[in-house]
Amino acid sequence: MKLLVTGGAGFIGSAVVRQAIGQGHSVVNVDALTYAACLDNVASVADNPNYAFEQADIRDRAALDRVFATHKPDAVMHLAAESHVDRSIDGPGDFIETNITGTYNMLEAARKYWTDAGKPARFRFHHISTDEVYGSLPKDPSVMFTEDTAYDPRSPYSASKASSDHLVRAWGETYGLPVVLTNCSNNYGPFHFPEKLIPVVILNALAGKDLPIYGDGSNIRDWLYVEDHADALLLVVQKGVLGRAYNIGGENERTNLELVKTLCAILDEKCPKQDGGSYADQITFVTDRPGHDARYAIDPTRIRDELGWRPSVTVEEGLEKTVQWYLDNETWWKPLQARQGVGQRLGVKT
Ligand SMILES: NC(=O)c1ccc[n+]([C@@H]2O[C@H](COP(=O)([O-])OP(=O)(O)OC[C@H]3O[C@@H](n4cnc5c(N)ncnc54)[C@H](O)[C@@H]3O)[C@@H](O)[C@H]2O)c1
Repeated sequence: MKLLVTGGAGFIGSAVVRQAIGQGHSVVNVDALTYAACLDNVASVADNPNYAFEQADIRDRAALDRVFATHKPDAVMHLAAESHVDRSIDGPGDFIETNITGTYNMLEAARKYWTDAGKPARFRFHHISTDEVYGSLPKDPSVMFTEDTAYDPRSPYSASKASSDHLVRAWGETYGLPVVLTNCSNNYGPFHFPEKLIPVVILNALAGKDLPIYGDGSNIRDWLYVEDHADALLLVVQKGVLGRAYNIGGENERTNLELVKTLCAILDEKCPKQDGGSYADQITFVTDRPGHDARYAIDPTRIRDELGWRPSVTVEEGLEKTVQWYLDNETWWKPLQARQGVGQRLGVKT
């Protein structure tokens, strides 16, 4: 398949690009290269004859038309987005423009291309979204997000993603565009930009800095290893039923405090502190995020039963691989720590 992947220089998009090329697909990676992008994420495939890169902004419709006309993809995997909740609290405008207007541009560019090509039956527009569109769950473990859970986004980020999901469904219903959606839980793994919780904890621990935990650390997330997510996305784009949404989770619910303590234990083992103490001693509780959702948890029944997909690792296995990757790849993360806003507490001023 020839895949047009947006956001392929970001965290999840680059995992999709690397895996797609590994599976023998062709990829055109469309990315504006914002602060969150890093072309090193796709350096391992950059010289592959099946790989092409186009620096283009999804807010620029004319640029998208040119990309579609030049590369003639069989399917679109749309991941480009502003993705950091804390940044969406400080500056929601970029989230509205990229996540909503940008998705509208992608849908219109794809619709024009698909229509001009005679509406080929195998074309797919796969929109990648988040479980945060469903809002916040109670702590009761029997209650989970299904694909039928009503949307209830509570942050500027999740509201912008919810809006984009609605647009994608509307383009499917109204124009017959062959769409499929996925909503996934929190990802982690190699190439995770060093402003998100897991890399922040690993890198602050190694630097002897505080390990900031929002509120009391009781917020629960369902952690999904990024390589597992990429695997699921490539399955959905090929086998997903048109018009359908699939929730993708890691089957790994942990409180933030449990997660950080697990990371500290892995670091204690791999990289013991010289004073004999534990990295957990660096844990510090900080002011909570405004509107911080209490719990996200995915019911993975649909993707498991219909497409036979399950995550391959537990969160402990995935975190072990992730910590090792950060220990081995300082040349990747060190320069990114100098980017605007990284290392600062964002999203507290309301
Ligand atoms: N990271 C998670 O845990 C998570 C969970 C659920 C869903 N998602 C969704 O998955 C997708 C990818 O997330 P991520 O964590 O890899 O994000 P990321 O921030 O690491 O990467 C986003 C990429 O999109 C690009 N981009 C941003 N604005 C653009 C624009 N206007 N035009 C073109 N490119 C642009 C950036 O340059 C970057 O390479 C997003 O749609 C996000 O909402 C992420």
